[in-house]
Amino acid sequence: MAVLETVIVAFWAMLPAYVPNNAAVLAGGGRPIDGGRTWGGSRILGDGKTWRGTAVGTGVGAAFALALNAVAGDVGSAIGVSLPTFPPAVVLALPFGAMLGDILASFLKRRTGRKRGAAFPGVDQFDFVVVSLTLAFLAAPGWFLETFTLAVLAVVLVITPVLHVGTNVLAYELGLKNEPW
Ligand code: CTP
Ligand code: MG
Repeated sequence: MAVLETVIVAFWAMLPAYVPNNAAVLAGGGRPIDGGRTWGGSRILGDGKTWRGTAVGTGVGAAFALALNAVAGDVGSAIGVSLPTFPPAVVLALPFGAMLGDILASFLKRRTGRKRGAAFPGVDQFDFVVVSLTLAFLAAPGWFLETFTLAVLAVVLVITPVLHVGTNVLAYELGLKNEPW
């Protein structure tokens, strides 16, 4: 596979995992998942992880996956790249995994004394990728190994932090987010 083709496949396959966190930023608010409870003197998750943000993020990511499935054939032949389609279980696993990874990261942040919104370099950029890929593997192992080849995973490793930093700076500049990370 040519490098450009690998980049396109990686971006396409990861879009349902990239979208949810951004959707959650737009939809966030309302009741926090931890209901305000604390553990060891700090919030379990904090006010930044809400039911609404998580549900909307997962839903928007899944809707994206279905939309990509609908156009994969046409787009693929137009650009001459064989684009993957997402099996039903993966339609949910990628976006839900992205949200869950972000939630687990907040759990770790609170346990390490980081306040809501504090940066946690490395964890902030990769939490959602690790968990969404793990859930996608569990949901459809055969599809996962076929789609996420080592080359595709290597590209994901490179483009994810770039996209993550880029979209968060943009959201911050637009006044949608309190911190640029
Ligand atoms: N958000 C949400 N539910 C989620 C994830 C995000 O409602 N599961 C919304 C919240 O409004 C949150 C914003 O998106 O403030 C930004 O997300 P994020 O940066 O992940 O949260 P932080 O507020 O920075 O909190 P934390 O330190 O726990 O990451
Ligand atoms: Mg944050």
